[in-house]
Amino acid sequence: MKNYLFPKEFVWGVATASYQIEGGVNEGGRGESIWDRFSHIPGNTRFNANGDIACDHYHRWREDVAIMRELGLKSYRFSIAWPRVFPNGYGEVNEEGVAFYSELVDALLANGIEPCVTLYHWDLPQALQDEGGWTNRNTAGHYAAYCKLMFERLGGRVKRWVTLNEPWVVAFGGYFYGDFAPGVRDFSSALQAAHTQLLGHGMAVQLFREMRLPGEIGITLNLCPREGATASLADASAAARNDGFANRWFLDPLFKGGYPADMQAYYRGKNLVLPKVNPEDMRLIAEPVDFLGVNYYNVEFTKQDESVWPLAFSLERGPYDVTNYGWPIVARGLRDLLVRLHSEYGVGKLFVTENGASFLDVENIKGEVLDDCRIDYVERHLMACHEAVEKGVNLAGYYVWTLTDNFEWNTAYTQKFGLVYLRHGSLDRVIKKSGRWYAGIVKNNGILNKS
Ligand code: GCO
Repeated sequence: MKNYLFPKEFVWGVATASYQIEGGVNEGGRGESIWDRFSHIPGNTRFNANGDIACDHYHRWREDVAIMRELGLKSYRFSIAWPRVFPNGYGEVNEEGVAFYSELVDALLANGIEPCVTLYHWDLPQALQDEGGWTNRNTAGHYAAYCKLMFERLGGRVKRWVTLNEPWVVAFGGYFYGDFAPGVRDFSSALQAAHTQLLGHGMAVQLFREMRLPGEIGITLNLCPREGATASLADASAAARNDGFANRWFLDPLFKGGYPADMQAYYRGKNLVLPKVNPEDMRLIAEPVDFLGVNYYNVEFTKQDESVWPLAFSLERGPYDVTNYGWPIVARGLRDLLVRLHSEYGVGKLFVTENGASFLDVENIKGEVLDDCRIDYVERHLMACHEAVEKGVNLAGYYVWTLTDNFEWNTAYTQKFGLVYLRHGSLDRVIKKSGRWYAGIVKNNGILNKS
């Protein structure tokens, strides 16, 4: 029997994202986002479903706060929909949108739940996309202006800010693979979109410092170890390239002040256009953050594959069980990643801002959702976090992805990640077995009596 107890003051929470849960897309003066536009184009999402209603959180948020209180959660990470605040991306403020988030923050605080606000979780105002979106350098400035407004309105009450969620997904899902909004397919545009986002991040951090607001600010990246699919040298080098593509391309500018030289050379060799970097950009991007948020789901087993342009690798499942999404379940990858961020990048403070799994959950005749697979997944990953802490990593908190089953981007409602099940049609909330289990973890500050 062993206890896996976490440091005092460890932050236990859940994470969500505006477009995935809110619905109410035409209410309260909200403007159109790129995800509204994208999800309404036939063929872009599973069963052509969209986030028009989603979890109806826009109307039922009080109920969701009550559930979090019932589970005893310490913190709630949610995102603000930029088009609710600036329907056109910039210019006139939509006060009704600001009021929605302001009320939510007050309700959280009144219930003893600490808000953690993500300023951008993929729902760019469509009006900005019409001007080029993240490929247009001006978007960084508009983003910073929007952040400034949120700092002014929620600063003081909100003490933990995340500038961007997973800029890699925004850049490469949105501008290269095109399977995410805005659905562009051009590698050089993706590189530019990554740069503009990082620039916006740096500007937001600088503003936050200038305003001398209490609390902390950081950024959330989707990171995972890339390992060769086989022991061959070719696969090892493919894995290193994948690491450069998706991990180092973001970590290096943020923590080492520049894009990785090997990847720049690689892209040049493929005749790709590197982002336009102005002299002051890299200093701004490397503006020190208070923490790094890590979203971790799996390891990528990477195989050399010349047929794939321009990166010449593909992914394999490896010898592991997978989630419903097909993602290999490899908890040790989270430990290795946290240790690497601590030792190689010298990141002072880390949060796991997302970790979780999709499984095919059903409600049984007794009204229970017995999702033991999810309990097992989260437990293994918490044990991995614990190992990292024992190795000296300053891990300050852990957020499960996610509170309720929700709109999972292009797979729509087919991938369920929630601790809470949503009944089809009524959208009534049913706390899953994993939700009750997680409440116990929070209460005990870790895992007790594990055999
Ligand atoms: C993410 C996303 C979430 C996804 C989750 C599962 O940041 O990747 O924040 O929106 O739903 O990752 O794919």
